[in-house]
Amino acid sequence: MLVLRAAPAKLGETMSFFPPGHSYDDGILHVAGERADRLAETYGTPLLVLDLREIDASVARLRAACDPYGVRISYAGKALLVVALARRIDRLGLALDVSSLGELATAERAGVPPERVTMHGAGKNAEELQAALDGRVGRVVVDGIDELGRLARMRGPGSVLDIVLRLNTGIEAHTHDFVRTAGDDSKFGIAPHEEGEALRLLASAPALRLRGLHAHIGSQIYEAAPFAANAQKLVAAMQRFTDAGATIDTLILGGGFGIATHPDPTDETLDLQAAIAGMATSVREATDALGLPMPSLEIEPGRYIVGNAGTSLYRIMAIKRYDRRTFAIVDGSMADNPRPALYGAKHYVVPVRETPGGLHEVTLCGRSCENDEMGDMVLPQGLKAGDLLAMCSAGAYTYSMASNYNRFLRPPIVAVGDGPPQLYARRETTGDLLRCDTDA
Ligand code: LLP
Repeated sequence: MLVLRAAPAKLGETMSFFPPGHSYDDGILHVAGERADRLAETYGTPLLVLDLREIDASVARLRAACDPYGVRISYAGKALLVVALARRIDRLGLALDVSSLGELATAERAGVPPERVTMHGAGKNAEELQAALDGRVGRVVVDGIDELGRLARMRGPGSVLDIVLRLNTGIEAHTHDFVRTAGDDSKFGIAPHEEGEALRLLASAPALRLRGLHAHIGSQIYEAAPFAANAQKLVAAMQRFTDAGATIDTLILGGGFGIATHPDPTDETLDLQAAIAGMATSVREATDALGLPMPSLEIEPGRYIVGNAGTSLYRIMAIKRYDRRTFAIVDGSMADNPRPALYGAKHYVVPVRETPGGLHEVTLCGRSCENDEMGDMVLPQGLKAGDLLAMCSAGAYTYSMASNYNRFLRPPIVAVGDGPPQLYARRETTGDLLRCDTDA
């Protein structure tokens, strides 16, 4: 397992990093005005606190960047989706992307109208394709030739299903760089040499209506250039499809907009305005140059909307001091946040109660039966078992990637910042855990 050991950030020097909505009042961390210690007492720990004001603010920033170019926004539900959040996202006027039957069922229970739901997924099973054919979503982003063939065979007589083809544009972006390759390193989408086959399949399936092309190039991207490069590749593909007689009226340019998660000096913040302007302008210029009509543009961010709205509260279970290292073991783990273990992801952690005294370097660990280090950080020396810690930027890909490893229970989610705290998801119970087990 790769464990990245970045220089820990110094508490105090870096308080300006806090996601908005976090502050110390009377020595206690507050999130959207709610005392974090009270939330922990009321709901227990681990606890995911979701700041609804921060969600609203992120959506407002996205809108400000997108509206001048008419870019439509869909929320990528894989980042975090529970019924109450789906409902809120819908009320905010965003469309919703789902990537499984489970996410679709969540959207349905929230009352999100099917026409505002797009089905994604890199390998959709028969039930998922059938749900799309049954009109439970507005359209499907088809991820490959095999899937297109299966959909074409399943499509009986009936109404037309709108589809978008996910393309492998060969642009793959990582946090700080991006590569233009033949795309051989990515399993996602339809490669240029498969486009002819896609068009042949579509010609034989008139009940599938091709509306657009899609490409998502990665996640937590900090630079604007790869988004523009991807947009240019999509316009080039649009021309190939148009030349072959298809009508493409929509380009979906993916998600992946990076957020600052840590005061590490190597971390950056994406210039969102520049990224959106760059992609929209690239499409406009490229379509003008090729004499193509300007398509509708869409993006599908996940992390940008919920990442910094989420804060995990943990209680310290033990401090272990050895010669070279000090470990703080918390009551969370890679089960409720696998990101540090999976990606070496860094989350900024602060004490819930301001603790006087010196600082020292601590390795934060989860309580699972693994070396589930959650990062090296600088924390007050006075912290002891029983104290609370807050892990910032934990809204995206934590709860949604959580597991029951060690048969731990998934934490509750409490939403703050819009009236009294609201429970969005209760803590799992051992009954929940055992409900799938048989006594065979
Ligand atoms: N669209 C598609 C097709 C995607 O696959 C994804 C994310 C998104 C949009 C949203 O990307 P975002 O805006 O959230 O970056 N588990 C990893 C991230 C995996 C992203 C998967 N796809 C992490 O925790 O960093």
